[in-house]
Amino acid sequence: MSVTPRALALDALERIERDGAYANLLLPELLRRTGLATRDRNFTTELVYGTTRMRRACDFLVDRFLTRDLEPRVRNALRLGAYQLHFLAMKPHAAVGETVEVAPKPARGLVNAVLRRVAEHPVVWPDEATRLSYPDWIVTTLEAEVGREAAHATLAIMNEAPTVTERADGYVQDLASQWVAAAIEAQEGEAVADLCAAPGGKATLLAATGARVVAGDIRPGRIGLIRSNAPGLAVVAADAARPPFAPGCFDRVLIDAPCSGLGTLRRRPDARWRVDAGAPERLGLVQKQLVSAAVGLLRPGGTLVYSVCTLTDAEGLAVDDHLARAYPEMKPVEALPAPWEAHGRGARLLPHAAGTDGMYLLRLRRRA
Ligand SMILES: C[S@@+](CC[C@H](N)C(=O)[O-])C[C@H]1O[C@@H](n2cnc3c(N)ncnc32)[C@H](O)[C@@H]1O
Repeated sequence: MSVTPRALALDALERIERDGAYANLLLPELLRRTGLATRDRNFTTELVYGTTRMRRACDFLVDRFLTRDLEPRVRNALRLGAYQLHFLAMKPHAAVGETVEVAPKPARGLVNAVLRRVAEHPVVWPDEATRLSYPDWIVTTLEAEVGREAAHATLAIMNEAPTVTERADGYVQDLASQWVAAAIEAQEGEAVADLCAAPGGKATLLAATGARVVAGDIRPGRIGLIRSNAPGLAVVAADAARPPFAPGCFDRVLIDAPCSGLGTLRRRPDARWRVDAGAPERLGLVQKQLVSAAVGLLRPGGTLVYSVCTLTDAEGLAVDDHLARAYPEMKPVEALPAPWEAHGRGARLLPHAAGTDGMYLLRLRRRA
């Protein structure tokens, strides 16, 4: 018998949860091996990504009618059914019947009974973290740092599938990343270092300005990605905390730092369940080291651009506080236009402002 979207989705959900597989890597691989038509592939993707994002909300929907713990495959079948009923607003006869069919045989009666009750009973959410389906720490951190209303709008839009933006050269890259590259304002002939560059999305845009770009990354395995995305670029495998360059030799340095990624949760459905609450503080320490080293590479009058695809202050304002204290010779450059909003001396881009990824960006110029 050929595989169905729901059967494939259930396998994927189990592997994402049990084996820690990355949804955006696992699913294309699983789909490649099936003969599913495009429409069914798209439906499978919707089921897997959606149920993974809304895992906490789906658990709440079904837990109202459960009195005991379930084995993971049964729980995932229930989540899958609840997702179709509640978030895809599918008719119960299709959503319940076909989900029951892919559930483990001994549990089919239970899955049928619980999903029917989910279909019949309106939900009263206990709190926003459950309704929006995020870990508590992400919701409380963003509520405190961007405000309740903006946090909820941002978290809601990150439950939707991302828009795909293709550049004129065919490279697929979110607009927010393109705006970060533009904010560097690299000029023809300038020496520009992009020291956390893989896979090379921003480096390719920098090179297109006619600047002389050096792209580095600490992971040798990822250097190959820069090479294939930007043939002809000077690349180097190096730790940006100890960059192998002479002091003062660059006009501009970009540190597009490793971060908690809370601004890109729409494209990585399982990421919210992976990142731990300690990550922003931990990454903040690394980010401070990276920007400190970058300052030393700038010629007088040179510009540092620091960016992260996240929204926590530990990785934004706190990094700037460190720079302000340690390098008073570094002064902010003009403010960025909307949809960026000023945040301390830098700028923040909230996902719901323009339907992009979320970012924090800081531009500082070294006194000439
Ligand atoms: C946000 S990604 C960069 C995305 C890239 N700028 C683009 O636009 O395609 C961060 C990168 O930093 C690299 N990285 C992490 N720690 C680093 C370090 N200490 N030095 C240099 N690169 C590092 C990671 O391997 C990862 O490729």
